Amino acid sequence: MKSQIIATLAALIPYALGFPHLANFPEYRSLAGLSQEEVRAVTRQFGGNMPGPQPLPPPITDTSGKLVNDAAHPFKPLRPNDIRGPCPGLNTLASHGYIPRNGVVTPAQIITAVQEGYNLGHQFASFLCYTAFLTDGNHLTNLMTIGANTTTHGQPTTGLNTHGHFEGDASMSRDDAFLGNNFNFNETLFDAFQVAADAVGGGLLTFDAIVLNRQIRINDSIARNPQFAFETPRFLGAIAESAFIFAMFVSNQTVDNQTPLTIDAVRHFFDFHQLPDGFHRRQGPFDFPLVENLTFSIVDMAGAKPGSNNGVNNYIVNPQDLGTFCYVYQKQVNFTATLYPDPTPELRAAIKQNMLTYYQALGDSTCTQYFPFGQ
Ligand code: HEM
Repeated sequence: MKSQIIATLAALIPYALGFPHLANFPEYRSLAGLSQEEVRAVTRQFGGNMPGPQPLPPPITDTSGKLVNDAAHPFKPLRPNDIRGPCPGLNTLASHGYIPRNGVVTPAQIITAVQEGYNLGHQFASFLCYTAFLTDGNHLTNLMTIGANTTTHGQPTTGLNTHGHFEGDASMSRDDAFLGNNFNFNETLFDAFQVAADAVGGGLLTFDAIVLNRQIRINDSIARNPQFAFETPRFLGAIAESAFIFAMFVSNQTVDNQTPLTIDAVRHFFDFHQLPDGFHRRQGPFDFPLVENLTFSIVDMAGAKPGSNNGVNNYIVNPQDLGTFCYVYQKQVNFTATLYPDPTPELRAAIKQNMLTYYQALGDSTCTQYFPFGQ
């Protein structure tokens, strides 16, 4: 009762401060674009739940290819306010309880869960997670969502659904934002897996079929989306995601990725948010440099180049786009700085710290480090 009264009073603060549009601001919504006064009005509602930036969690120690669809992690159907989004990997982890089932997460929860559930390597998991968090996370509460939703109070939320950065065009199972819904499963697009498997994989998603599927999805966006955007980070993101399904949605996949993927397994993750029965995670971590090798093999085999459409069927390659992971980091930190033109000192310090963690997550000291908020 007492906590309910405190929560109700906290929700009234934005009204008292003259910001009624910020009432019931969710703790997991990004603070991007808010003025200092708005950030102060919002953070008073968080009731002290502001741990701020946290260090990377440690790597898991057992990286064997063990059973992960186990009794401790049963699949459960969605409840009304559970949040899911464009990532079949994270949606599935949430529906099996590897991350909170409501879809509201900390970076550390994601980084640990993707290792436990799929054996994604600690380094790449950290890099990927902070690429998303720097666009979509709340740097003071250390929370984000794996999608977006409208709360019961009507506040829109950001999250992984945010279009135009990590989430982008030419997805394997979600529409381009210009063409429709960019985060829900789309059966028509999914059919391209079967087309590719039948054409070059004897009905299975061999590596050649994954490459062909990637080409089909890129060509479809070139043909139908006049605003198709396929530059860093989306360029490498989309191609790495094709590598992901081949390397991690295969039960007991080995380091040399020899086993093809089935359409049935892909559907379980993409459509049902469910691990196939008896699913064992891959053997050994999928990490740099393995991720780079597989990703750049697909880039080469698919003949993919970063660029964008200027009207349908008018794809213009951007020669300035380096298409490297260093460049993903560089663009991300500089983009994040533009999201916060007027941060409070606390928010600025938190973002700065998360940018340092992001560089650490990149784990490649040959990449130039950037300090848009100063050293
Ligand atoms: C480590 C944290 C992760 C984050 C922050 C993340 C985030 C995202 C985001 C934002 C998208 C949307 C991109 C788009 O527009 O298509 C996406 C797509 C995707 N993710 Fe994740 N992801 C993570 C881990 C994983 C893991 C571990 C897997 C697989 C085991 C995975 C598999 C995929 C796949 C296959 C897609 C493409 C979906 C499609 O094209 O339809 N992700 N992810």
